[in-house]
Amino acid sequence: MAGDGNGKPFGGCYSPRATLAIGEPSFMLEISFAKPQLPHSGALALLIGEEESEAGIWQAAEEATGGAIGRALKVAEFSGKSGQNATLLAPGGGFSRVVVVGLGKRGERTRLTLEEAGATAAGLLAREETAAVAADALAPELAAASAHGATLRSYRFDRYRTKEKPDEKPRLKKLTVLTAEPAKARSAHEPMQALAEGVFLTRDLVSEPANVLNPAEMAERCKSLDRLGIEIEVMGPKELRKLGFGAMLGVAQGSINEPRMVVMQWRGAAGGRRKRKPVAFVGKGVTFDTGGISIKSAAGMEDMKWDMAGAGTVVGLMSALARREARADVVGLIGLVENMPSGGAQRPGDVVKTASGQTVEVINTDAEGRLVLADVLWYCQQEFDPQWMVDLATLTGAIIVGLGHEHAGLFSNDDALAEKLGKAGRDTGELVWRMPLAEAYDKRLRSDIADMKNVTDRPGSSITAAQFLQRFVNGKPWAHLDIAGTAWLAKEAPLAAKGASGFGVRLLDRLVADHFEE
Ligand code: BES
Ligand code: MN
Ligand code: ZN
Repeated sequence: MAGDGNGKPFGGCYSPRATLAIGEPSFMLEISFAKPQLPHSGALALLIGEEESEAGIWQAAEEATGGAIGRALKVAEFSGKSGQNATLLAPGGGFSRVVVVGLGKRGERTRLTLEEAGATAAGLLAREETAAVAADALAPELAAASAHGATLRSYRFDRYRTKEKPDEKPRLKKLTVLTAEPAKARSAHEPMQALAEGVFLTRDLVSEPANVLNPAEMAERCKSLDRLGIEIEVMGPKELRKLGFGAMLGVAQGSINEPRMVVMQWRGAAGGRRKRKPVAFVGKGVTFDTGGISIKSAAGMEDMKWDMAGAGTVVGLMSALARREARADVVGLIGLVENMPSGGAQRPGDVVKTASGQTVEVINTDAEGRLVLADVLWYCQQEFDPQWMVDLATLTGAIIVGLGHEHAGLFSNDDALAEKLGKAGRDTGELVWRMPLAEAYDKRLRSDIADMKNVTDRPGSSITAAQFLQRFVNGKPWAHLDIAGTAWLAKEAPLAAKGASGFGVRLLDRLVADHFEE
């Protein structure tokens, strides 16, 4: 029986919700905007591009430190290229620290490059409690982006560290962005902050261990999104049985933790768009994947606590869209199950009937994500008839072999949707790479006893997994993102510490913003 580590059974699931509500991330950097004025103490970040000459705050800081910055940059061979940075400790002028981050050429500056520069600055400033960022040479939107990047980088999941001394933790709490137009920068930053809160929510959910975050607990946390104006519906085994979710229930049957499906609706469309069909996001939410009876080997199995990252991304995305009051109608659906071996678990060879009526021979109980998505995708189309749908899933280990951790796999039956996702990926740095779908792969799903089997042999098995999903898509524009390689980072990335990345929230927020809002 589950215990609390002191020999006492929980009698269910330990819930830390009393101490931390959803939507209140563990920590959020405090951002403010102010007119450019040289501070006379504390820490300062200078963002300096190539071929740029001393002006504004940079020039004032140079004077206040008696030329120390220029001398240091010369020694550091700093030329303003992006990726370059330098740190000066106690350089005079009252400063504890001045950090300098390269911005690259003027023409190459985008929201993303500024986010990354802000993130780098925040990393270099981690030992300071407060700091100022000189963004006086930047447009307000780019000034705001630097703050957003700093915020994204400063996330940390430390709910379960009880013994860390305060001086061992990163200290940075407050960042003041110095900009010529603070009001404009502040309003540009508002939707970015909404987005950061969504990303943090996803990271929180994905980081939680599976003894805390089981399907019921995750559904419970989704419920508090109703505060943001999102309509929430939670379905349990009884409702799912009524809907004929045989594939998803087959996966769930081995666990004492009951499955849930959560349907989240945000109705933000205005004017002419109000009558249009919604867009839909669907997430795989396997709160722990042991493999079931086709059990996984022990090494690295702890990673399977983040097999709900697709669902976690949908939840964070919905929260971001609602917080920034996106002018679009969006539905998010997540299928939550735990995949366990037990006396009641489904067996290899079992045949299950999906909500679509199609039957599946379950050859391998570890190919469970596609079984969950089969039912949820089908339901999504039947219930909402969306313009298009995008699903996210940590679906296959093979996508990591193919694309590593630098791109998510993109599969789509619609070139226009795939193009839009590719562009949103390049703009946000959440990259996707299109993979093929074709009849020849689909044929390999043939079963001798049922309409299809749930696995094929190994070659191209990320593709045959996508092909399986497509059998539950009724001709609608659809895209599948296999995020097994991108949801969790073994080492830090420009905009995220190691651990849960929140991959997909910024990508899909951008997709909605660029194409589905007025
Ligand atoms: N959740 C896993 C895929 C996965 C593996 C995600 C590694 C993240 C890291 C999925 O349910 C799974 O087990 N897939 C199998 C499919 C196989 C049985 C056809 C796999 O990839 O090995
Ligand atoms: Mn599996
Ligand atoms: Zn899985």
